[in-house]
Amino acid sequence: MNGPRIEDIGPDDPRFADWHAAVARSYAHERQPGWWESLESARISFARPGTQKRRVALVATRDGVVVGGAVLGLPLDVDVDVETVSVELGVLPDARRSGVGGALLSAVRELAASEGRDVVQAEVFVPVDRSPEEWPGARFAESHGLRCVNVEHRFLLDVPLPEPRLRELAAAAEQGSSRDNTVVSWVGGCPEQHLEQWARMQTQMNQDVPTGELTVTARQVDAERVRDSDRRMAEQGWTKVRSMALDADGAGRGYTELLVSEHDPDVVVQDDAWVDETHRGRRLGMRLKIANLRRLQGHDDGALLGPRRRVQTYCEQDNTAMRRINAEVGFRAVDTLRGYEGPVGG
Ligand SMILES: CC(C)(COP(=O)(O)OP(=O)(O)OC[C@H]1O[C@@H](n2cnc3c(N)ncnc32)[C@H](O)[C@@H]1OP(=O)(O)O)[C@@H](O)C(=O)NCCC(=O)NCCS
Repeated sequence: MNGPRIEDIGPDDPRFADWHAAVARSYAHERQPGWWESLESARISFARPGTQKRRVALVATRDGVVVGGAVLGLPLDVDVDVETVSVELGVLPDARRSGVGGALLSAVRELAASEGRDVVQAEVFVPVDRSPEEWPGARFAESHGLRCVNVEHRFLLDVPLPEPRLRELAAAAEQGSSRDNTVVSWVGGCPEQHLEQWARMQTQMNQDVPTGELTVTARQVDAERVRDSDRRMAEQGWTKVRSMALDADGAGRGYTELLVSEHDPDVVVQDDAWVDETHRGRRLGMRLKIANLRRLQGHDDGALLGPRRRVQTYCEQDNTAMRRINAEVGFRAVDTLRGYEGPVGG
């Protein structure tokens, strides 16, 4: 059998849609439904790269037919201790165990080395009822010398939550001193008056979020970065639903956001959720999450949620507080997300 051909392609390449479908289908195989970047968002993200990350698409073909692909994410931040590259790499089920994955990974390593990267990072999703010992992605990563350095779980929540249940959860969350804070919610870009606080809280969240032994440089966020992310995500068809808690002095004490893609009729993404260390243990996290879900479900008479019936989120295995809140809201674990990493040179 001929070896696969691996090529770097751009968003205008006629194979871009097949490349996108191949990677998405590889990751979805034998798993519960989940979010995946839409073709439309991927096209825009590749066509108009931002200042924070460069992405490279590699397509694998055999006899001219797309059988798999990879996406490299090259962070462009300065002042990082270790230069990393993130990788998503998938091979269609019918084309597996014939060296396509290995060929893609070799091309990834070569490209990453030429970009001066030190560490390669990849995520493998293992369904909760399967073990990593029998799961192709985990076997593949380990057979290529990558080590599991972080374990999270992926959760799904069925929505809409019935109004009586939301009321019950909101009432439980409001008992306690979290009432000292005002919770404000909105849909869309961050209003000017909240930009500074939002950026400060995101910077803190980046420092606080547990990441196991994963090589990460906690990113500093400023108002410009919040604006830039809002603009880029809106271009790609995202609507953000946000809630933040303000104390009596107007300082941000917690925030959370949900992301709705106009190109995804199934899944809403629960992104960051953070509460200031000095305010933890007072049910503020729950209060924020419920306020945000209410906003999502109620906005535009339910038109924003539309046909979507699931919210997806992630949580690190030792993040007890967040896991407790998620369980109470009704999230159920569907996958173990294993973060792998190793030296680019293998
Ligand atoms: C992981 C994946 C990319 C492997 O693709 P592939 O084309 O089958 O990989 P290769 O044929 O190059 O396999 C290379 C080695 O990985 C290991 N491996 C891959 N699949 C395996 C499986 N099902 N069981 C045991 N070992 C496996 C083996 O050591 C294999 O070498 P061998 O066939 O000589 O024994 C593919 O299963 C996939 O798309 N999975 C979903 C996405 C994913 O999890 N990606 C992992 C990112 S690190």
